[in-house]
Amino acid sequence: MIRLRGVTRCFELGGQRVMGLDAVDLDIAAGDYVAVMGPSGSGKSTLLNVLGLLDVPDAGEYWLKDEATSSLDEVRRAELRSRWIGFVFQSYHLIPRLTALENIELPMLLAGIEPAERRRRSAGLVERLGLGDRIAHRPAELSGGQRQRVAIARAMVMQPALLLADEPTGNLDSRSGGEVVGLLEELNRDGLTLVVVTHDPALGARAKRQLQMRDGLIVGDHPQAAG
Ligand SMILES: Nc1ncnc2c1ncn2[C@@H]1O[C@H](COP(=O)(O)OP(=O)(O)OP(=O)(O)O)[C@@H](O)[C@H]1O
Ligand SMILES: [Mg+2]
Repeated sequence: MIRLRGVTRCFELGGQRVMGLDAVDLDIAAGDYVAVMGPSGSGKSTLLNVLGLLDVPDAGEYWLKDEATSSLDEVRRAELRSRWIGFVFQSYHLIPRLTALENIELPMLLAGIEPAERRRRSAGLVERLGLGDRIAHRPAELSGGQRQRVAIARAMVMQPALLLADEPTGNLDSRSGGEVVGLLEELNRDGLTLVVVTHDPALGARAKRQLQMRDGLIVGDHPQAAG
């Protein structure tokens, strides 16, 4: 599903060059469950942003579903994102003025999906993620765990093949964090490819494969017995 070769991303910071990604090679198969770990500043979010086509490498090539992405224009990148990729962020990134349900349906609205199909998909996810009575509320009226479940539903309505989660439990207590991870793992069991950045060793240990990053490099890549 994912192939990176020599992918490099550097930033200029106060006259200094920082290697966000330093010639990274990486393959991720469809259906895998990968935890990305490593110290702050090691390049985890940079990697996720590149995988999600939110950021463009300065060098190297990234194939997503066998399509070379480095020379694509933003329109085609947005198409691929919308077709294949869902995102979940530590701080949810929900739209405050919209209700939970409106947040969940927004990607489908933008993609021009018919109202009946929108309702069918959102109802299925609301049920599955246990959001039932909260969907008419705005994000500010929801708990962190509920907000993250809304964000997961929003990421899933376009039926992505790949879900990228950057510290999805970083703002949650351990119980809601555990629930959120349980949901992500359930989606992975149904075939979704899952890449999760985390600082939490217990969470990282649950993945099928664990990457360790340091200074823009992948310094460890270990299969793990599925939890
Ligand atoms: N937009 C940017 N401009 C300048 N430097 C950046 C930018 N984004 C990332 N960097 C730098 O690239 C390096 C990797 O950053 P990245 O955000 O990927 O780290 P991270 O592993 O996600 O860290 P954290 O665990 O703190 O989230 C850091 O040194 C960071 O300062
Ligand atoms: Mg980060």
